[in-house]
Amino acid sequence: MAAHPWDELGPDHFLAQGSLKWTTHKDATPAFVAEMDFPVADVIVEALRDSVTAQRFGYLPEHLAQTLSTTVQGFLEQEFGWQVPESRIYPVADVLVAYDAVLQELVAPGAPIIVPTPAYMPFLSLTPLRGHPVVEVPFLQDGNRWVFDLERIEKEFLAGAGMMILCNPHNPLGLVHTQQELLAVAEVVDRVGGLVFSDEIHSPLVFDGHHIPYASLNDQTKNHSVTAISASKAWNLAGLKCAQLIVTSDDHHQALLPKKFLITHGASTPGVEASIAAYRDGGPWLAEAKNYIRHNSALATTRLQAAFGESSFTPPQGTYIGWLDLRDVNPGHYESVADFLLHEARVALTDGAKCGVAGRGHVRIILATTTPILDGLLTSLIAATSREKKH
Ligand SMILES: Cc1ncc(COP(=O)(O)O)c(C=O)c1O
Repeated sequence: MAAHPWDELGPDHFLAQGSLKWTTHKDATPAFVAEMDFPVADVIVEALRDSVTAQRFGYLPEHLAQTLSTTVQGFLEQEFGWQVPESRIYPVADVLVAYDAVLQELVAPGAPIIVPTPAYMPFLSLTPLRGHPVVEVPFLQDGNRWVFDLERIEKEFLAGAGMMILCNPHNPLGLVHTQQELLAVAEVVDRVGGLVFSDEIHSPLVFDGHHIPYASLNDQTKNHSVTAISASKAWNLAGLKCAQLIVTSDDHHQALLPKKFLITHGASTPGVEASIAAYRDGGPWLAEAKNYIRHNSALATTRLQAAFGESSFTPPQGTYIGWLDLRDVNPGHYESVADFLLHEARVALTDGAKCGVAGRGHVRIILATTTPILDGLLTSLIAATSREKKH
């Protein structure tokens, strides 16, 4: 790829900006939290500038909540051919708030939650805080494709599990589930009368295949799932606190209505304005960001496969998250390979064990940084591990 202006942004710029990503480990290159190191889209900056000029910092006004619903409705229809009534698009602070609300309002107290693993870390750590045990169901390998363990999922539902988490596109495996894979899940969930929390936060970030909203598949999935989406990953707005809970089932809508004020209360006014701009006018910026990420992903794939073997790393089909198998690397006296890399390579990655037992010996790498920073990170990682290979 020809040089891109984003290539010029270096660590000093990001340190001065002071994000969580760049201030947590001051002397290590960070790639552990799902934040992008790209300048935010101009259309979003303009929307926020308007909001600052008008000092619109009060509670979310009804007209903005309404515009968000209309805009999200248009986005879902245009991008995924999915028609959702505006009244079923609830503004919420973030996807974890949406998850928490679903857990508390739609799942029987104490019922276990099925989490296909490796998984986005908070699903494992937060779920027990609400009194729901987590049942980790590791993905199975079918050739070089990760697939759901449907038998085990069915068994856990029959044993009393209250809900399953579906993360599509999948963090951290980068999977974009096919229609056939989703229908197979739906068949099981329908048979056992289960519930699905479909986390589609990464849905605008698909590189290979196309995103199919789970609830859009058929009447069964519409009625046995709730969906969460947000502009926060694709347009890098996580701190602005705005996501959307999409409640497609009439029964779920009725059950949530008494608590709707509480559930939607945290969506911030500037966050809603930024999200409207992102969904409505953020397409060209997103296309550029995806191109840039695609190039980074190819670079990581070439370098990591050369260093650790072909099966160690597959480019994500969706998300900007890479999943690297380093089970052949001896972490020595460090407690994990991620800890080893933090100290010996000065790169900060997520320890795969935080994504579940199935993730031990793996690391999660955020690819949405500048190409020179990613290249430097890969060089340090490969150099440190080549000194410590088990075989
Ligand atoms: C799959 C997934 N779900 C949820 C979240 C958290 O989203 P939010 O900040 O909206 O709670 C993330 C953040 O990286 C994520 O990757």
